[in-house]
Amino acid sequence: MQYPANTLEHYWMPFTANRDFKADPRLVVRAEGVHYWNHRGERILDGSSGLFCSAAGHGRPEIAEAVAKQLLEMDFAAPFQMGHPAAFEVARRVAALTPGDLNHVFFVNSGSEAVDTALKIALAYASARGEGRRQRFVSRERAYHGVNVGGTSLSGIMKNREAFGALMPGVVHMRHTWLPENRFTKGQPAKGAELAEDLQRIAELVGGNTIAACFIEPIAGSTGILVPPTGYLERLREICDAHGILLVFDEVICGFGRTGKAFAAQSFGVTPDMITMAKALTNAAQPMGAVAIRDDIYDTVVDAAPEQSVELFHGYTYSGHPAACAAALATLDIYERENLFERAAEMSPYFLDSIFALEDMPGVTDIRGYGMIAGVDIAPGPVPGMRGYEATKRLFRAGLHVKFTGDCALVAPPLIAGKSDIDEICSILREVLGGMEE
Ligand SMILES: Cc1ncc(COP(=O)(O)O)c(C=O)c1O
Repeated sequence: MQYPANTLEHYWMPFTANRDFKADPRLVVRAEGVHYWNHRGERILDGSSGLFCSAAGHGRPEIAEAVAKQLLEMDFAAPFQMGHPAAFEVARRVAALTPGDLNHVFFVNSGSEAVDTALKIALAYASARGEGRRQRFVSRERAYHGVNVGGTSLSGIMKNREAFGALMPGVVHMRHTWLPENRFTKGQPAKGAELAEDLQRIAELVGGNTIAACFIEPIAGSTGILVPPTGYLERLREICDAHGILLVFDEVICGFGRTGKAFAAQSFGVTPDMITMAKALTNAAQPMGAVAIRDDIYDTVVDAAPEQSVELFHGYTYSGHPAACAAALATLDIYERENLFERAAEMSPYFLDSIFALEDMPGVTDIRGYGMIAGVDIAPGPVPGMRGYEATKRLFRAGLHVKFTGDCALVAPPLIAGKSDIDEICSILREVLGGMEE
């Protein structure tokens, strides 16, 4: 297939150094299994599942065929006051995977929309309960909750906020959970559960009954894979319960097997009130996100509205798009048929051992990891993030795609990756990162 691209200028690329990219583009044109191919036909190993989303590997014909069939049968159905069967079926399948009584599913098109939807549901729930003063939210330093205004307000990453003004009022941030004494801890660090007390302090400062929800990535992903200290999530749950605060797990990265179970909530044994998800829900073959919601929240909001009236004035034209639903159903079939969540749990020790073996490299300052995801910090140069960016480019040229945030490599291969793929990821990382030290 020919891909005409006479100029790169018109496309304003997201989260990209546009000028630098356009001077020396990294284009990919084909993907299959754990590999991409660039426009020169060179093979690139996918060390980050695209963007933590292609869990079942690229180019799965089952998904492509299901999407094509759906588009030919019915390309679109208006999602308001009308429905199509596949959306109900995806909701049922997702609800079956979530823990506890998170049995209701609201569809969106991305992780960012999932987060902003959960924010609005938390407010609507408070309002339906006659607790309209619960309008504050708590999140965490170094958090990433997408890029819409709500999610940016929750964000704890300065670069993602600083150009955009004051954003949504009423968001308070807890401290992040990276502690120097936990460096090079595989799995959950022993120290740091007491950081959850920040939520208690905030509740005592502003009034726990003014907080609608606390948003947490169980493993803070985009910032560099911060695994929750033992006891931390449990304590957050207790504090939320004590003050009637909803606990929301943002599992846009963690969800669908990354931690060895369907959701990190199950891996860590803590059940939130809502889970936001996207990415691997469709194996990234179609844009789709979702919010899973506890029975009581759904019932309260729905029952508070008069009969025959819309209960939640929220939704997107493409909520539960038929093509996305077809992709989700085909993807969930693959996860089940190939036991990919269990496979991730089984492969995790090999993956983590291999990544943690990079600990002996002089430029590596910390490694963290859990399940099939790990963060490798490299020593920053004079401008933070620049060495990470240089590493991204060098790794790509050496045949490995790894997403960096700042100076941290976020390694998360597709869950179908074999030991030899993991070996190759680690040997390219060693060679390229080692070369940068010379
Ligand atoms: C935890 C978390 N929430 C939300 C998002 C935003 O998802 P999207 O880019 O699909 O809007 C991401 C993206 O990486 C994420 O990691």
